[in-house]
Amino acid sequence: MSQPGGGLGVTAIYTSQVARWGGLAHASLYDGGPGRVVFWLTSLFVGLGRLVQPGVPSLAVSILHRQVLFDRILERLGAQAVMELAAGLSRRGVLLSDDPRVQVVELDVPEVVKLKEELLARSPQGRAVLERGNLRRVGLDLGDPRLDDAALAAQAPPGSPLVVTAEGLCMYLSASAQRALWSRVQALLAARGGGSFVFDLVPAVEQAPPGRVGRLLGRLMAAFTGGQGFVRDERGRADIVEELRGLGFSSVEAIEPRLVAEEWALPRPRERSQQVVFLARVERGLQSV
Ligand SMILES: C[S@@+](CC[C@H](N)C(=O)[O-])C[C@H]1O[C@@H](n2cnc3c(N)ncnc32)[C@H](O)[C@@H]1O
Repeated sequence: MSQPGGGLGVTAIYTSQVARWGGLAHASLYDGGPGRVVFWLTSLFVGLGRLVQPGVPSLAVSILHRQVLFDRILERLGAQAVMELAAGLSRRGVLLSDDPRVQVVELDVPEVVKLKEELLARSPQGRAVLERGNLRRVGLDLGDPRLDDAALAAQAPPGSPLVVTAEGLCMYLSASAQRALWSRVQALLAARGGGSFVFDLVPAVEQAPPGRVGRLLGRLMAAFTGGQGFVRDERGRADIVEELRGLGFSSVEAIEPRLVAEEWALPRPRERSQQVVFLARVERGLQSV
């Protein structure tokens, strides 16, 4: 990976607000500060964009579907050890570590980890979360050239099956940076005797080209993230699956939340969303989802 993560903190604020808006458990722990302003401003621009491009699915519903689908996949995998890469202000770590047998590591750039801890420190419930022995936060830039496979593996929680997640990250990485990350995760899971990797990525070729308001939103996002925005390339879903298999993942599934919304009991199941969640496994008797 080559991109630094620092500027993307604002995107973590937005996605954590989606969890609050969607009424997901523990999301209120991370509410506050500029969060609601970021959420409503983004919703306003996306709403304007949908007026001129009515076919485009709701961003908030898309992210809500994605968040809950990740939760459901982890449940079905019976994950006992979870490492969330680019965890942002996600409340999933709190949800998972409600079970004291589950070990969780949340990794993000140091500034975002600091913000997360400050938000938790505001309430008695948050302070109790900070005290949990089975939930650890790690401030680390995944784009740091000094970070090698061993350094990442050293942060992984003990226990099995190990599941690594990267939610809301890959769309900001170039194809080569994605490949470097996927390869590192594969090496980690192989070294641990197997496990699963869950991440999302809507191939650019499946997305409607941004309209005028979408381009304006893109420019605003770049202004807030220090120039970082979505990276587009020509690979389709099948290319991504093939690439993951080429890196040593033994099976790869691409799951679209909108197609399984009823079956997986996602919130707002009748509302349209656009997401693709990849579940890539390194073999070792994991139960099927
Ligand atoms: C859209 S947010 C997603 C947060 C969370 N996973 C969620 O879905 O709610 C993207 C996150 O990726 C993190 N990130 C981006 N590049 C990173 C890097 N190089 N190292 C660590 N974290 C990174 C950002 O700091 C931000 O928290």
